[in-house]
Amino acid sequence: MKSGIMFFIMAVNISPEYLKAQKNNPRLWYGRFRIKIAPITKKIRQFLRDTTPEPKSTPAAECHITNNLETQASHFQEHGWAFVENIFDQSFYKELIKYWPKRYWLEPPTKITKNYDRGMAWSYGEPVPESFKYHPTVKKMLDYLRTEKFQNRIKNFIGKDKDFVSYSFAMHKSYPGTQVVPHRDGIYNNDLAQNVINVFFFVNGNGGKNAGGLTLTNDAMGDDVIFEPTNLKNSCLIYDSKAPFYHGFKPMRLGRYRWSIGAQFLEKDFVEKQ
Ligand SMILES: [Fe+2]
Repeated sequence: MKSGIMFFIMAVNISPEYLKAQKNNPRLWYGRFRIKIAPITKKIRQFLRDTTPEPKSTPAAECHITNNLETQASHFQEHGWAFVENIFDQSFYKELIKYWPKRYWLEPPTKITKNYDRGMAWSYGEPVPESFKYHPTVKKMLDYLRTEKFQNRIKNFIGKDKDFVSYSFAMHKSYPGTQVVPHRDGIYNNDLAQNVINVFFFVNGNGGKNAGGLTLTNDAMGDDVIFEPTNLKNSCLIYDSKAPFYHGFKPMRLGRYRWSIGAQFLEKDFVEKQ
């Protein structure tokens, strides 16, 4: 199943001109440096994880995704994307911020085309990793996304008479010099799936332009912008990887940070045929 998820999210339709234009962008210097030192960073982070004690208690708030989700359903059904603000209720949101994993729970980047720290990842058919034991708040979120109830909310949100399953989950930390080169996902070219739903939570970030807001564009150069999220606190971009637009963001500027969680929902029939 691992090869499945890697194929689905693999970036395709990247523009060589875009890569050429960004080659000497000074904002990418720190991103390249982090890739260079990634082997050392990985070893240090593994040591820190190995020596972290398990938490003794579980925070109180339950994961609650507000009905603001449903208010954007018609926008999604018309355009193939929607932006939802105040996606979590305040009590869960506060705990998600408070118990956000320390950086060493994520792995450093290894490629410049998508160079954020990423970890706490789960995908369909796999057991929930040990790392979630140390982060009960995050585990509650993953558990909720996998419930029948939330999968039904996604089904209604998409508005087609077909079931969806929670397929993947991963957390990210981004910083100055992080970029995602505009691309489509590999599954864009797979005719067996009609809708591949990405629910991309912006948990925390100072926001504004060029601050890591995953941007939808009509072109691979990232210039013809459909939508750039600038509120990166407790918001969420939902988009269909089968829609014709590209997604990505230009190298983040100095002083910017972004915490995010990506979750993917696939058609149940499609997943069961894999
Ligand atoms: Fe992607």
